[in-house]
Amino acid sequence: MSIRKILCIGAGHVGGPTMAVIADMCPEINVVVVDINPDRLTQWNSGTLPVYEPGLDEVVSRCLGRNLFFEPARPEVIADADMVFVSVNTPTKEYGEGAGMAADLQYWEKSARFIKPHLKDGAIIVEKSTVPVRTAEAISRILHDNRQGRRFPVLSNPEFLAEGAAIRDLMEPDRVLIGCEETEAGRAAAEALAAVYRHWVPPERIVLSSVWSSELAKLTANAFLAQRISSINAISALCDATYADVTEISRAIGTDHRIGSHFLEAGVGFGGSCFRKDILNLSYICQQQGLPEVAAYWKSVVEMNDHQITRFTRNIIAHQFDTVAGKKLAVFGFAFKPGTNDTRDSPAIYVCKKLLEERAHLAITDPRALENAAESLRGLGGEIAIEPDPYRAAEGAHAIVLLTHWQEFRELDYQRIYERMERPASFFDGRNWIDAKLLYELGFNVYRVGRAPLVHY
Ligand code: NAD
Ligand code: UGA
Repeated sequence: MSIRKILCIGAGHVGGPTMAVIADMCPEINVVVVDINPDRLTQWNSGTLPVYEPGLDEVVSRCLGRNLFFEPARPEVIADADMVFVSVNTPTKEYGEGAGMAADLQYWEKSARFIKPHLKDGAIIVEKSTVPVRTAEAISRILHDNRQGRRFPVLSNPEFLAEGAAIRDLMEPDRVLIGCEETEAGRAAAEALAAVYRHWVPPERIVLSSVWSSELAKLTANAFLAQRISSINAISALCDATYADVTEISRAIGTDHRIGSHFLEAGVGFGGSCFRKDILNLSYICQQQGLPEVAAYWKSVVEMNDHQITRFTRNIIAHQFDTVAGKKLAVFGFAFKPGTNDTRDSPAIYVCKKLLEERAHLAITDPRALENAAESLRGLGGEIAIEPDPYRAAEGAHAIVLLTHWQEFRELDYQRIYERMERPASFFDGRNWIDAKLLYELGFNVYRVGRAPLVHY
């Protein structure tokens, strides 16, 4: 089956960029992206996209109105689609059974029920969201219509892009994973989806598996990545106690090709919308399957991350003579990582919350994420200033707390910043990002993660 019309449900961080790249690479395919949030659709159609990703503006501007459309869902659009991607959010459940652990599948299920009456025969459903293993089975059952004998193949095609590098990851993926049922219809559907990707992805990078393996591979990939971060952060705590240097350790172990050098950067902890939720979900699934030891093993990755954030924040307070009450602290960076305006589950939220509880006055600056930062902190009491200019944020501050390693923060004039700060002026580098020696020579006391502090007393 040759795919000519694609519909995507969910115009978020994954749906929007993924569909834009498909439209760009496959000019003969018409791609429509729908969303229940009309503001999101308006933003995609305006010059100011809802998602900041390097290179995304260019891709969207090439295709928008040509073969890429963001619009409200209409029955005709669903009925027209040869292939429907479902890329809705699957957050951690906040209520009922499994609250705080399980994935909330209500958006997925509502999407399935919404498209079901309008789908044309043979339409292929593609599970793009990250879901618990065996979700496709549930979706198949919802879509399967006994009365009319209609069946729709459901594929799993998890997304592995990382924010801030979404366009690069989509254009040059390490792999595209397609999980299909071992039936003729399943294999044909997988081939139709593979043909879409073959427009730009080398065939050897398109990997086929069973649907269940594909679903679980996605959770496993995130769990392994996050586990590496928690492992190196655990070692950073030991480094702080012994004055070994965690960056030297990362370099030393990373040269072992069996370990590899990526995801060994110690810091304030991982954030983002997925690591925490996917690992908790994985742990919950293990629990449900009667595997409490396995569940505890994976949950400890999140617990170590929480510990790292707490440890970092306590360190700030300890080096501010055990009180930050009434002190101005400049927070450099609020996005969960550089290259994005996304602040979902950013360590900055936890650090700021704790500092506000200790009655610090915060001035928060970030090159891209200030709007989302304000949103993430909404409702918290205390004194918070959102400040686009880092120089103004640091003016009169007792300390700078760096939480996101934006390149911009390396390029500031720290002499100028130092002159306008209170004394002693401290720099807490939650990402081991700043030239600590230079700052120390300017007069700062510099505290890092898993590396000896540089202090003047
Ligand atoms: P998001 O919140 O940015 O976007 C989801 C969108 O779906 C929202 O705009 C929401 O309004 C819309 N939506 C929800 N229910 C809908 C419905 N019934 N009909 C139409 N639209 C609906 O989420 P995201 O970051 O794009 O993540 C989507 C999925 O992809 C999640 O399962 C996530 O785990 C996974 N994922 C995310 C990333 C990432 O980097 N953010 C990477 C890989 C995988
Ligand atoms: C992650 C995965 O890398 C993607 O493959 C996956 O598709 C995605 O989750 C998802 O499922 O949502 P993302 O969260 O966008 O991508 O970004 P990462 O680059 O993985 O960074 C996550 C967090 O880990 C950030 O807070 C980052 O600062 C932190 N990190 C990363 C470290 O603390 N140390 C490192 O060495 C690497």
